[in-house]
Amino acid sequence: MSSNDLRVLVITASTRPGRLGPAITDWFVRTVRSDAASDATTVDVADLADIALPLLDEPEHPASGSYQHEHTRRWSRTVAAADAFVVVTPEYNFGMPAVLKNAFDFLYHEWAWKPVAFVSYGNTSAGTRSVQMAKQVVTTLRMMPIGASVALRIADSVHDGRVVGSTALDAAARTLLVELSRVARALCPLRGGNDPTDADGPVTGLTLREAQADDMAELLVLQRCCWVQEAIANDTLDLAPLRETLDDLRASTTTWRWWCVRRDGRLVAAVRARAHRRAWLIGRLMVAPDQAGNGIGSWLLSYAEGQAPGETTHCTLFTGHRSTRNISLYERAGYTRTATDDTPAGSVRLSKPRHGRLAGAVHHRAGVV
Ligand SMILES: Cc1cc2nc3c(=O)[nH]c(=O)nc-3n(C[C@H](O)[C@H](O)[C@H](O)COP(=O)(O)O)c2cc1C
Repeated sequence: MSSNDLRVLVITASTRPGRLGPAITDWFVRTVRSDAASDATTVDVADLADIALPLLDEPEHPASGSYQHEHTRRWSRTVAAADAFVVVTPEYNFGMPAVLKNAFDFLYHEWAWKPVAFVSYGNTSAGTRSVQMAKQVVTTLRMMPIGASVALRIADSVHDGRVVGSTALDAAARTLLVELSRVARALCPLRGGNDPTDADGPVTGLTLREAQADDMAELLVLQRCCWVQEAIANDTLDLAPLRETLDDLRASTTTWRWWCVRRDGRLVAAVRARAHRRAWLIGRLMVAPDQAGNGIGSWLLSYAEGQAPGETTHCTLFTGHRSTRNISLYERAGYTRTATDDTPAGSVRLSKPRHGRLAGAVHHRAGVV
C-alpha cells in the first residue's frame, strides 16, 4: 500500500433478522468498486451484525484508549485502520439505530479526523432523519460528515430485497465516494497520517508523526536497541521491551498512542502515552543510542506531555531504578519521585503536575502532529 492509498470502511448499521442493510451495502460496494480501484482506494465492509458488540461494557471512557475487552480491541483495530467511513443506515423511529450509536460510543480517537458519508434508506424520508441524528454524534467524535449523500426510498429503489439501481442513484454513490476520498486525503495531516510534519526540534532534519502500522517493525528494532542499555544499567534481561514481539507492539496501539521521530527518514526516537483517569501515563521514551545527548529525548517528552487531555492533573512514568541517565532527564524536566503500589519491581516512578513547568517547557511548532 502506498502512502496515497485510502481505506474506506463501509459500516452496515442494522442487525435484525431479515434486514435490508446488507443488500444496500452490497449495492453500494458493487457500484463504487471500479472507481475505488482506479483511485487507489480499498473498500472494506464492517457489518455490525458480525462485529456483534454488546451494549457498551468498558469501564473507562473510550478517550482513554484503555480497553478491557477483546471485542472492543477488535473493533478499535478495524476502525483505526480506516481513513474514511460510509455508514449504511436505516431510520428507526425517526432516528439512527441503537446499534449504530452503540458502535460509535465504544471508541473515540479511532474515529477522529476522518470523513464520514451516509447512505440512508427508509420510507417517506428515505432515512434522512436518521442521518441528521447521526451527524450530531459523529461531529462530537471529530468525524467530518461530508455533503454528498445517498438516500434511498425503499418503495422506489428496493424490489425483492435487492436494490434496483438507476443512473441517478448509481451516480450519487460514485459522487459520494469521490468527495469522501478528496476529504480523506485533505484531512491526512490532521490524522498524523501519511504526511509527517517537519518538527522544530533541537537538531535539524526531524519529522514527528503519530505512529502508523508501517512504523512498527522499525520501532521494534529501535526499542530492543535502546533497552539493551537498560538491561546493562539494571543488570537484568527481564524487561518487557526486550521480550515484546511485533504483534505485541501492534496490539499496544489499541491502548496507547505512539509517536515516532525520524531524522532524515531514519527512525531515531519514539514515545507513547495514554490517559488513566486524570493521569497521563507516558512510557517507552527512547532515543537511538547514537543520537542521545542532543536534546531529542527532552523535546519528545515535552511533546508527549503536551498531548495530554485537558482534564489531566499530572504526567507519570517509570524507569529502572539504576537508569541514572533517564532519571536525571526526567528530573531536569520537572519530575519528582513518587511512591505508588503499582510501580514495577526494580523501577522508580516519577510524576509531574500538569501545570508548572509542563506548559511550554520546550517549544514545538503548532501543527506538529
Ligand atoms: C424499529 C423500526 C422502526 C422504524 N422506523 C422507521 C422510521 O422512523 N422511518 C422510516 O422511514 N422507516 C422506519 N422503519 C422501516 C424501515 O425503514 C425498514 O424496515 C427498513 O428495512 C429497516 O432497515 P433494516 O431492514 O436494515 O433493519 C422502521 C423499522 C423498524 C424495524
